[in-house]
Amino acid sequence: MHVPTLISRKRDGEELAGRELTGLIEAYVRDEVPDYQMSAFAMAVYFRGMTPAEVAALTRAMIDSGDRFSHPDGLPVADKHSTGGIGDKVSLVLAPLVACAGCRVPMVSGRGLGITGGTLDKLESIPGFNVRLDSGAAGAQLADIGVVMMGQTDRFCPADKRLYSLRDVTGTVPSVALITASIMSKKLAESLDRLVLDVKFGTGAFMRSRKEAQVLADSMVAVGREMGVETHAVLNAMSEPTGRTVGNALEVIEAVECLEGGGPGDLRDIVLDLSEKIAGVSRADLERLLDDGSARARFDKLVAAQGGKPEDLPLLGEIHRAPEIRDVPAPTAGVVEKVDAGLIGQAAVQLGAGRARMTDGVDHAVGFDQLVKTGEHVHAGDPLCRIHANQRVDYDMAEAMVLKAVHIRTHH
Ligand code: URA
Repeated sequence: MHVPTLISRKRDGEELAGRELTGLIEAYVRDEVPDYQMSAFAMAVYFRGMTPAEVAALTRAMIDSGDRFSHPDGLPVADKHSTGGIGDKVSLVLAPLVACAGCRVPMVSGRGLGITGGTLDKLESIPGFNVRLDSGAAGAQLADIGVVMMGQTDRFCPADKRLYSLRDVTGTVPSVALITASIMSKKLAESLDRLVLDVKFGTGAFMRSRKEAQVLADSMVAVGREMGVETHAVLNAMSEPTGRTVGNALEVIEAVECLEGGGPGDLRDIVLDLSEKIAGVSRADLERLLDDGSARARFDKLVAAQGGKPEDLPLLGEIHRAPEIRDVPAPTAGVVEKVDAGLIGQAAVQLGAGRARMTDGVDHAVGFDQLVKTGEHVHAGDPLCRIHANQRVDYDMAEAMVLKAVHIRTHH
């Protein structure tokens, strides 16, 4: 296999054979293909796309790059994955909730990608929380408490682990083929019975229009069904952030509120909409599991099993306290017409919640909370949100972006 030729052929729009894609992924995981060639390849795929046969072959090659889960106990195995959004902390609530409903939830997630946040980065704002589990530990935990939340490892989806962080910093995320292979390789390696996909569209998502999101949903559902998994896709607008927080620790705090039966309505609704598709119990049962403390108790078990302390959860705001925390006052009175998720996501990344290079860490403290929602009335001077920043210049940058992101229709 001559990698420069493969890259050139993809650049010129040719369809590659399954064995060529398998060879490329195998070589990449063995460190025989450097990141610069893989990023050129990803950019060629971004511009040229892939045929359904190529997408299926790429997904399979990425699954085969590592181990798969096996589930001995016969309970239904279910999971959810999002194509990525702003303030999207749904997984943190859904995984323990669906486990409470009697499913096994072996959730393999990613880190922040582009302007969208990642479940792993959020979980790591809980001190001690370990997302690097090996298959043995993950299997034992699953049998014990029914839920595990972890990242790709060198043994489990190693190809996605590498390619995902490369795409994050090379402008090659919003490709139907690459997103499909990334998400479906993680999910199919989990050996699921049921999967629900939260496919986002809008300014805060990789797919801008509902039509593009439908194409992505169809692509993922086709791969899932071909591989024997009951796969559902739900399209969700990502025109404003989910909930009222954006940023790693701030989002965990809000997810915990939702796990306690509270939290913002839009977050709870989306958790229930997605859980309903896979949990095998009614919406009313799921609501009860949130309201009676069951889901919260399961989350505590999850945190403890993975090295964190449940007692730290109510303290996260103090553990991760940014030096500059200030309100952004509304410039005029009126009704909030729009809170642009894309701009808020960009601002969050610039505050330090996301990455600029593969090797960067994220700042768990920074971001936004108390964000206004579309349809709310504000008086002049009321807070549009609170910014959590590291320094004054960052605050000023984020404030300017919030004022651009929040549109207020004035009363006459
Ligand atoms: N989430 C993933 O896991 N992969 C992608 O490529 C996009 C969102």
